[in-house]
Amino acid sequence: MIQIFHYGKKGEKRDYRIKSTFLLLAFFAVLYLIISYSAPMDIQLDSSFVLTHVKYLSSPKSSETLSKEMQGEVKTQRAKPGYNCPSPGRRSNTEDLLCQNPPTYLPNFKNPCFYDKSGDKPYLRCLPYFHIFGVCKTGTTDLFTRLVKHPQVIPNKEFLGKETWYWTWKRYGKNRQEKMPFTSYLDVFDSDKISDMKVSNQDHSLYSDIITGSGDPMDFWDHTQWKLIPQNNISQSEPDYTAPNLIKHMIPDIKLIVMLREPIERLYSHYYHGSFGNDRESFHRDVISALETVKKCRQSFTLRSCLYNQTIMNQLNVPIYASMYHVHMKTWMDVFPKEQIHIIRTEDFSKDLPGHMTDVFKFLDISDVSQNLLQNITATRHERETQQKKSAGPMFPETRKILKAFFDKENRELVKLLNDTKFNWEDIFQTNKN
Ligand SMILES: *[C@@H]1O[C@H](CO)[C@@H](O)[C@H](O)[C@H]1NC(C)=O
Ligand SMILES: *[C@@H]1O[C@H](CO)[C@@H](O)[C@H](O)[C@H]1NC(C)=O
Ligand SMILES: *[C@@H]1O[C@H](CO)[C@@H](O)[C@H](O)[C@H]1NC(C)=O
Ligand SMILES: *[C@@H]1O[C@H](CO)[C@@H](O)[C@H](O)[C@H]1NC(C)=O
Repeated sequence: MIQIFHYGKKGEKRDYRIKSTFLLLAFFAVLYLIISYSAPMDIQLDSSFVLTHVKYLSSPKSSETLSKEMQGEVKTQRAKPGYNCPSPGRRSNTEDLLCQNPPTYLPNFKNPCFYDKSGDKPYLRCLPYFHIFGVCKTGTTDLFTRLVKHPQVIPNKEFLGKETWYWTWKRYGKNRQEKMPFTSYLDVFDSDKISDMKVSNQDHSLYSDIITGSGDPMDFWDHTQWKLIPQNNISQSEPDYTAPNLIKHMIPDIKLIVMLREPIERLYSHYYHGSFGNDRESFHRDVISALETVKKCRQSFTLRSCLYNQTIMNQLNVPIYASMYHVHMKTWMDVFPKEQIHIIRTEDFSKDLPGHMTDVFKFLDISDVSQNLLQNITATRHERETQQKKSAGPMFPETRKILKAFFDKENRELVKLLNDTKFNWEDIFQTNKN
């Protein structure tokens, strides 16, 4: 063997023979490589991005699976402990997401993206990397608007670049929305932009570090369609499975953000914003009646089953359900670990925008921004206070007193749940007094 590499006079002839055999072998090896490598190239796509990811495209197993998934095929396998698929309780034409396999996400994307091969050409589809799931009138649009100024973050294609209304409304065709299948929900996210931009990793492979997200503040509190999730037992008065279960199933690593504002002021804003009423007299009346309704329901049912009951919700002329934070936080925290939910108190957020934006960037695991950009991101102040609320003036002290007594009790549950006394908002009440 050593002689192969010996360049002496004696071994010249043999060396030549060995060399030509070696060359011939090498030639076939190269030919083999070329043939085998070009085999999957039947997928002719022009963008350089796709070519660099050809190894993912050419894996027949994963693409076949994807294709079936994206055609909405329901797998007859146990998708998650606790129920069987297809679900025996299937009784609506709402998609049974828990019985569909989630996509296999590509490692070269920071954002959850995958190849949909159901059409002629495989193409990239993406889901949200982060989701702001609540709460209405706490500043979620303000936060979202600032977030998309980060060079790594892009908005989605829906309302305000933020609101998809998918998980709790469009999925069910609720609130006069056209019913939206999961495949259409995927259209909401701009996979072109996510794949356009790429950075070089240390190993020189291509990688997209662009992320996108959504913000649907109703996802926090509106679980009234739970009976349409087939894994739930409709003989019971409250659900085992809600939107967070579906989200976790499809996008297990999603980063969740929730903003919580002092619940009484939030309620007052939501009242006008949602056109529940026009003045503080009607607000007072509707609060009294809503508290009565909740109290009555609670005598026979758990608070959670009252709040997730559409009949009860329809009787409430003031959106008090959205301020009952502990009930909904528990629904979300039962599904997602604490580390996966970033909680911001609205009042703290407004006081220190740079600090909170930096925290959010960290939570999202995206780059720090320059001081200049951070200034830009935090410079503009949005006061999105509802005009009608402004002209109506503050609520009556009497109404506030009634609500304070009610929410002090509810907030105690939240303080326990989050293990943090700032969620009794006592500091805010103190400053409001002066
Ligand atoms: C549904 O709930 C009812 C009432 O609690 C119970 O009797 C029944 O066994 C449950 N059904 C299933 C399939 O778990
Ligand atoms: C919802 O509320 C209505 C009215 O009080 C009640 O009849 C019904 O049993 C409730 N449903 C559930 C699932 O709790
Ligand atoms: C912030 O950035 C935007 C877009 O780059 C730019 O148009 C604007 O002038 C900047 N504003 C400030 C205050 O720096
Ligand atoms: C609650 O928070 C305190 C500090 O604020 C901490 O020492 C304690 O371990 C926490 N308890 C739980 C159960 O997380």
